[in-house]
Amino acid sequence: MPGRHFLHIPGPTNIPDRILNAMRVAMEDHRSAAFPDLALPLFDGLKKLFKTSSGTPFIFPATGTGAWEAVLVNTLSAGDRVLSPRFGQFSHLWIDLARRHGLDVVIQQEAWGTGAAPEHIHDALKADTAHAIKAVMVVQNETATGVTSDIAAVRRAIDTASHPAMLFVDGVSSIGSIDFRMDEWGVDGAITGSQKGLMLPAGLGLCCVSVKALEAQKNARANNPLRRCFFDFDDMLKTNKDGYFPYTPSLPMLYGLREALAVLFEEGLERVFARHHFLAGGVRAAVLDGWGLQLCAQAPKWYSDTVSAVMVPDGFNGGDVIKRAFTRYNLALGAGLSEVAGKLFRIGHLGDLNELMCLGAITGSEMAMRDIGIDVEPGSGAAAAEEFYRKADAQYMAKAAA
Ligand SMILES: Cc1ncc(COP(=O)(O)O)c(C=O)c1O
Repeated sequence: MPGRHFLHIPGPTNIPDRILNAMRVAMEDHRSAAFPDLALPLFDGLKKLFKTSSGTPFIFPATGTGAWEAVLVNTLSAGDRVLSPRFGQFSHLWIDLARRHGLDVVIQQEAWGTGAAPEHIHDALKADTAHAIKAVMVVQNETATGVTSDIAAVRRAIDTASHPAMLFVDGVSSIGSIDFRMDEWGVDGAITGSQKGLMLPAGLGLCCVSVKALEAQKNARANNPLRRCFFDFDDMLKTNKDGYFPYTPSLPMLYGLREALAVLFEEGLERVFARHHFLAGGVRAAVLDGWGLQLCAQAPKWYSDTVSAVMVPDGFNGGDVIKRAFTRYNLALGAGLSEVAGKLFRIGHLGDLNELMCLGAITGSEMAMRDIGIDVEPGSGAAAAEEFYRKADAQYMAKAAA
């Protein structure tokens, strides 16, 4: 049916027309005297996004996976030990990447639907008296299950164990949508991609590293370094300082990034976070109060403000809901991945969104569920979300005005 496509997967997200227009540029000389006027402010903008004054951001023509790799291969030596909780597909994939680079990953298995357990991280670090663990890798927002972990608490766990490990955080589906504080939380390597909170196409792997991580980079280089070429921070540092890149950058993506940062800063990061929390509240009301279904996230402390993973009742397949929503209602929902394949569908609620767009996704999900025989009350999800949005409105507006 004609009309707008409803894109409600947890990335890529809707691209505001303003950003699309900004990306429609003629090609230009990326080594010209004018180019630094575009490039240099991007680094300042990213520092603001990551909330750091001392960190060093990097912009790779890659994706979040590339940024995962860049942080690891630059700061660690072959065979180094790292600690990582695993509680979903993305924490699993990052661990897999680390292992394929020859890192010795100590995995802390947590239940899917929960997140990083600071007490487990504390205990593992406390027991590591030889300080063999060089870094802790945590996914802030596990997109596969709709779970957000408390990074400030992870930092405290590292500090109370008096352990010098670096803290690397995957913020691919949180940075720019959920609060992230690189300096305050002592994050040594922050990672994101362009296609989620930044409302751009996929195509940039963005990361930011602390002074400590840059020091580690020098040591790793001197001491059995992991192999790297394309992702070498040193090549970037040599050229970035003057506003250039060691290879041909993607101009539309850089212009798009400039506009995306402007869009986020004009709304204000705190307001962006408040809006995501508000919109997520309506989706959760639809799932829990309206439909009477469960979220994959096992308790409110894990609820993600960017994606809700909705468990389908026994005997049904989440894939069928997704297929019906897509083919009949022009609505894209996220699939269950790996261990939760078929058991859930995901509603992405991040990026350029408002209440009515979320209500569209809720109504479309509800219709698709009913079409395949799931017994949810017609209109129940939308009604619960509407009431949530109406009642929580004053609170949200007050936060937005603050
Ligand atoms: C939490 C998280 N980490 C990493 C990735 C991988 O990012 P990309 O697909 O941009 O390589 C994703 C992708 O969805 C993600 O959600």
